Amino acid sequence: MLNWVLLITICIIVAISLVLPKLIEKPLQKANKLISTSNEIYLDTLNDWLRGLDQLRQFAAGAKLFSVTQNASKKLEDATVKQTTYTKLLNAINGIASALFGLIIFVLTGFLVKNGLVQMSTLLIVGNFRFYLNQAINEISQARGEMKGVKSLIEEVNEAAEKVQVSDKQKTNMPTVIKTESLRLDFPNGEKLSYPDIQINQGEKILLTGDSGTGKSTLFKLILGELAPSAGKIIFEDKDGNEINPDLKTIGYLPQDPVIFPASIKENITMFNNKLDNKVERSVEEVDLSSDLQKFDEGINKKLNLDKLNISGGQRQKIVLARAQVHDSDIILIDEGTSAIDQSETIDILDKLLKSKATIVFIAHNFTEEMHELFYREIHLIKTNIN
Ligand SMILES: Nc1ncnc2c1ncn2[C@@H]1O[C@H](COP(=O)(O)OP(=O)(O)OP(=O)(O)O)[C@@H](O)[C@H]1O
Ligand SMILES: [Mg+2]
Repeated sequence: MLNWVLLITICIIVAISLVLPKLIEKPLQKANKLISTSNEIYLDTLNDWLRGLDQLRQFAAGAKLFSVTQNASKKLEDATVKQTTYTKLLNAINGIASALFGLIIFVLTGFLVKNGLVQMSTLLIVGNFRFYLNQAINEISQARGEMKGVKSLIEEVNEAAEKVQVSDKQKTNMPTVIKTESLRLDFPNGEKLSYPDIQINQGEKILLTGDSGTGKSTLFKLILGELAPSAGKIIFEDKDGNEINPDLKTIGYLPQDPVIFPASIKENITMFNNKLDNKVERSVEEVDLSSDLQKFDEGINKKLNLDKLNISGGQRQKIVLARAQVHDSDIILIDEGTSAIDQSETIDILDKLLKSKATIVFIAHNFTEEMHELFYREIHLIKTNIN
């Protein structure tokens, strides 16, 4: 019953079958690793860009967000596609090998039967290997089909990552007057803020002061519609005194924590709108950024790194101030825009900034008398205890 030739052949075949997939092991491992790295990059990209979502919206730079996230997601997709290809290749190799080996054993058995070397086992072996062979053929055709499917996926992904058209920012009618009436905000944790009635007229340069926690930043968020008042209201009027509903996204806003993106300094200023490139040089001068740029080899094309922050806090504020300048908003709300910039430079920057025609409300702490005098007037908030 025991045929040595058959036994040894089967042993060799099993050994080869076990070793063969190793050929593809390395590329498959690489492909898997690529997925995990691409995934990490994708999540980091989302993190870097989404924290500046409000700024991207304000400057209509949504297209840039789409293109960078699509780029990162394309890399992730590519990695997945690569991994799928290797998995399928592995299936195919297994399939082809098992079919070939099935055939070898079948032929060998036939030879042995013919020469009277095996008898009883013949039928059983042939039956088993026919099943083996069929299964293998199925696997091959399935894998081949899936590989083709992956090809169309690559085409789809490439198509989806095509450049997005940047839409032009629309000029909407901006309010001439912004007023608040009995404005109050209750936070869910019980903290309450109430504001005096305030009026901001077109072209005014107002300094907004008050102790920490008096609600200066919150007032900006209420004006911008990021927070809804619990009582009272904010009224926007046109030049004829009619109440209007302006597009609040067109109000220039520099948050207390300047938002920058992992792109070049120039792109951070223009917010990826290259029609503004010709205005960059002037804005860089106006915010006293030129001398800082000289320190970088790449100058204005220096790419910002958000992880290992490669610029100072003051430089970051200057970039964001320049961003407000090139975008020519009619109303600009600046929250502590120069807190990290030294006094003499701040005076210099304010001096230029406040010459613009825009309505500017500027929140500041610890300004000197000289700085106060640069503004038309001051609104000073006081903490009121209400219940
Ligand atoms: N989401 C929130 N939930 C609860 N309380 C909040 C929230 N946001 C702000 N506050 C509270 O509202 C008050 C005003 O905050 P806001 O940030 O407007 O102060 P600020 O005047 O800008 O202070 P600073 O000068 O320190 O920036 C603070 O007491 C703060 O704790
Ligand atoms: Mg604040």
